[in-house]
Amino acid sequence: KRIAIFASGSGSNAQKLMEHFKRSADAEIALVLSNNPEAYVLQRADNFEIPSHVFDRHEFYETDQVIDLLKNLDIDFIVLAGFLWLIPQRLISAYAGRIVNIHPAILPKYGGKGMYGDHVHKAVLAAGETEGGITIHYVNEHYDEGEYIYQARYRIDKDDSIEMVKFKGQQLEHQHYPRVVESLMKKIRK
Ligand code: GRF
Repeated sequence: KRIAIFASGSGSNAQKLMEHFKRSADAEIALVLSNNPEAYVLQRADNFEIPSHVFDRHEFYETDQVIDLLKNLDIDFIVLAGFLWLIPQRLISAYAGRIVNIHPAILPKYGGKGMYGDHVHKAVLAAGETEGGITIHYVNEHYDEGEYIYQARYRIDKDDSIEMVKFKGQQLEHQHYPRVVESLMKKIRK
């Protein structure tokens, strides 16, 4: 099966996915897409010799070009890894039940528009939470609202900084995202 990753930034999760699926018999990462021509994830894709595509708002929201590309490359499944734009309905329909995302909090808390990256970690610390976590979930037309697939938690200590909380969350993401996606790949039909 063939996976496309959508990412807007650094792509550390994309990196883990590319490493993992290089050795997998179930699926391969066949394409990386980004809305951001400066995103470091594009360099990472190059390093793995995985093709990439950058699109702008017009192309993504007003045309079928991205869907056409996914179909032409025979993509079966979409993994969002730090992708910041809302997925348009036409793409959700084209890949019904075949788009997943990872979020750096235990949803439904600390989700929704504007809740990404450090915004999440700041809010979690400001609320005095003693636990943080991650959620892997299906994607629907609302930010962070699709059905949950997997959640994991970490402890927040009294004097943890934002950097520490972010680090603990990333460790969990890197540990679980490739594994969870792999288990989904075993279940879908080509
Ligand atoms: C991750 O924390 C993920 O949960 C969120 O965006 C971040 C992406 O980080 N959706 P990276 O680009 O994979 O390093």
